[in-house]
This record gives sequence, structure tokens and C-alpha cells, in this order.
Amino acid sequence: MASANPHAFIDMKGITKRYAGVTALDGVDFSVNAGEAVCLVGENGSGKSTLIKILSGVEQPTDGEIFINGEQRFNLDPRASSAAGVMVIFQDFSLFPNLSVAENIAFSTQLSKQNTLFKKRNARDLARSVLQRIGVDIPLDTRVESLPVAHKQLVAICRALACEARLIIMDEPTTALTELEVHSLLEIIRRLKQDGVAVVFVSHKLAEVLEVSEKVFILRNGKNVVEGPATDFDAASLTRHMTGRDLPQVTVSAISETSQTLLHVKDLTKAGVFEDINFELRAGEILGITGLLGSGRTPLAKALFGLTKPDSGRITMDAKVIPLGDPLASATARIGYVPEDRLTEGLFLTQSIIRNVAVGRLTAHERYGFLNMKSLNAEADIWLNRLKVKAPDIEAPVQSLSGGNQQRVALARWLARAPRVLVLNGPSVGVDVGSKADIHNIIRELAASGIGVIVISDDLPELLATCHRILVMRNGKITDEIKGASISEEELAHRLAS
Ligand SMILES: Nc1ncnc2c1ncn2[C@@H]1O[C@H](COP(=O)(O)OP(=O)(O)OP(=O)(O)O)[C@@H](O)[C@H]1O
Ligand SMILES: [Mg+2]
Repeated sequence: MASANPHAFIDMKGITKRYAGVTALDGVDFSVNAGEAVCLVGENGSGKSTLIKILSGVEQPTDGEIFINGEQRFNLDPRASSAAGVMVIFQDFSLFPNLSVAENIAFSTQLSKQNTLFKKRNARDLARSVLQRIGVDIPLDTRVESLPVAHKQLVAICRALACEARLIIMDEPTTALTELEVHSLLEIIRRLKQDGVAVVFVSHKLAEVLEVSEKVFILRNGKNVVEGPATDFDAASLTRHMTGRDLPQVTVSAISETSQTLLHVKDLTKAGVFEDINFELRAGEILGITGLLGSGRTPLAKALFGLTKPDSGRITMDAKVIPLGDPLASATARIGYVPEDRLTEGLFLTQSIIRNVAVGRLTAHERYGFLNMKSLNAEADIWLNRLKVKAPDIEAPVQSLSGGNQQRVALARWLARAPRVLVLNGPSVGVDVGSKADIHNIIRELAASGIGVIVISDDLPELLATCHRILVMRNGKITDEIKGASISEEELAHRLAS
């Protein structure tokens, strides 16, 4: 039997996990010391979430040993894992939307203490003290559903602290946060570490990964490839270890002089949300729209596809007016919309991959009332291949895929519909750096084939690498227009926030 590292709070040795047909983890070693921040990085499908599920007792390893605080643990289940102080904050935060901030923070501790009478006062005291501990101020009585996403995340962190967490694991903690919110999250992580709480951070945003952590573990295809102190890595070397390749620097190519205007947006206004929005989109153009959370970028994106109804204004496509607030009319005009929150808005998780891609294309493959499954599958397959979806079988349910691969299925589904204008809200949220570069290439190819693409994003390098033009939104208005490569990342960040 292997002996435990005496300093480690968590020590996992030789962890293997096999699912039918897939080896998700193959002899992985992983350790975390008390008060240390550790980053777990790797491409989509490399096994990060699986390792976390095993540590939190949600999945049992096929092989390997787990030590917590020097003590070997067998048949770890979620209750035993959280009793040992291991808390996971999942991407959806698993909060109770219709309960208050205080109730959410105190709920699990009250349950674990077998306290059947939920004592309101204690809950408030407890909630107040943990909020103070991380130095944030959120009103205790607010219902969680009305909080912005960054605050929901803080409530989830507080709930973990209320349960006396010694290790907080965050799977993709920054994908929904703006740059500013990410900085305050990193500040909180520093405080937690000073308190002796360890943090495991799973993220595809490599710069952030390095800023906050002591140690880096890199997985590739379910195996350890490299580990070491964070100071030994930079974004480029992390990418190389993750993907086994260097990513080429790309530049935006020019749009053809003769290309015509596809989409024309005039005086679009929705009271209190966005105001006087005017722009044109040409065939072959990639137009970025950016702004901080709450700037109106997402409601505007939704309005372009009829999911939000503006009060006034006009959208025309090829000089034909598209009725406002009517997604079916937008889809008929061949406007496509890929939502930001694809996992809840964009996919049927329990259905097969192929069905998810093919849905909406069914009529194109129907003859005499019969579905031509062969042509349907062939078409879906083209896009799954182009987006390099890593799946054992196209009949597998989408929920058995890794997070990043689910994102790709959502993209494939919209691309298979052959749109003329494609609105992409956060095109590379949750995908790894290698895939991100692939998705950017696909966006460029789509534009080169004559599609007009609108990229809604707050990922500044992404905008600068793909867009011909960038519109900046603030308080519901377009405040700035930037010609693609004419600006630095710092300058763009400045114009966004000031
Ligand atoms: N329940 C399951 N059944 C079958 N295969 C699974 C299951 N869960 C995960 N896998 C497979 O295990 C592999 C590792 O997946 P995992 O979710 O751990 O990746 P990840 O590193 O978290 O990726 P991402 O960055 O995309 O979230 C993938 O090939 C995935 O398809
Ligand atoms: Mg994952």
C-alpha cells in the first residue's frame, strides 16, 4: 500500500476511472496541501471533472487510493467527503432560487446538524459572519434568484464556508464573470488561503489560473502530463502541455469591398434595457459587441433573434422588415442565435448527440412523411467532425460528454441550419484554449463563405482576434465603435469600463 504524503490535505494516487468504452482517468496522481490554491487544467474531455467527482464522492474510482488528512478513505460518498471538509461549487451553484441569501448560506449546516426547526436568527448570524469573513456585502434577505451571477457564486462560496470547508473546489468558476468580477473572486481566494482553506480551481482561462495558484496539474487524455509550481509556467507553455502543440497567431482578414449589407438595425429601443441601437452588418463581416455584464449586450443579442421584444425600432434583412419579438420569423429569415447559457437554454441533455444537432433540420430530411435518417445523420456528422466533438458514439446522451464537448454540440446544432446571419453569444465559453482557436477559425471560415457573424463577448483577446469591427455598449447604449486590429487589449478594456 502506498503511504500518504504527510503534508498533504488531499493525496490521490493512481486514480483510474473507466466508463463503458471510455477510460476517463488512467493512473492519475493529485495532491493539495492545506491553504494552497491548485489549478487543474487540461483540454476538454481530459478528465478534470471526473477527478473532482471522485474526490467529492459522487463517482467511485475503478482503481487507486485516496487519502484525506493522511487517512486512507475507502468507498468515499458525498456525505463523507463533505464531512471531511471537501466542498464542490458546481457551475450551476446548486442554490435554492426562491430562498433568501441567509437561508441559502445556512441551509446545509442546519440540515447536517439535524436541526429540524430552521432557526431564522441563527441563519442570519451565521450568514453575516461568513460574508464578513470573505469581505463582501450582500443583503441577507434578497432572494437568490434576483442576484447577478457573480453574487450567486459568492453565496455558494459562503455556503461552503458555513459548512466548515477545508477545501473548496470550483469547476469553471469564472466563465460567467466579467473581468472585474474575476478580480474580486481572486481577491477572495487569497483571503481563503490565508485562513488555511485550500482551493482547487478548474479553469480554461489560463492567465487567471497562474495568477492565483501555487501549483499546477496538467491532464491530457486522462493522464498526468506535467505538474509543478505555478511560477514555472506561462500561458504559452501551459497551452503546449495541454494540447501538445503551439497555437499559431492569426490575424483578421479583410472583408470584400463589394459585399452588401445583410442586416440593418435601426433605432432599436427597449425601455431601461437598451436604447437607440443602430448598426449594419455586411455579408462576410464579423462584428463584435461587447460591454460589461448589465451593459445590455445579451438583451440586444436576444432581440436580434426575436427572443426579447423591443418597444420600438426596426430590424431589416435584405431590405425586408423582420417582425420584432418573433423567433420563428427570425429563424425563417435565417438568423441563427447561439445562447450564452447553452447548457440550460440550448441543449436537450438527456437526448442523443445526433438528435440535438438534427433537431430543427428534421423537415429538410423528410420525404413522404418518412425521415431519411441516413442523410440526417450524415449532415449532423459533418458538423460534429468539423467541431471535433469528442464522443464515443453519436447516439450517446449529451450529458455523458465533458462540458466543453457539450458546448460544441450546441454550436454544431446551429451551424447545421445554414444561417445567413449568426449571432453567437459567448462563442467559446467553457472550451479549452486549443478548441477556442478552432472555434475562432470556424467563425472566420463562416464569414469568408459570406455569412454575417455577430460575436457577443467580454473576452477581449477573442474579440480582437476575430472581429472586423467592435461595438462597445455601456448602460444600454452603443458608446464606441472600434475598427478591429486598431486597438490594444488594454485600451479596449479601458473603453469598456470608463
Ligand atoms: N457518465 C459518463 N459516461 C461515459 N463517459 C463519461 C461520463 N462522464 C465523463 N465521461 C467521459 O470521460 C472523459 C473525461 O470527461 P470529463 O468530464 O472529466 O472532462 P473535463 O476534463 O472535465 O472536460 P471539460 O473541460 O470539457 O469540462 C470524457 O471523454 C467524457 O466523455
Ligand atoms: Mg469538466
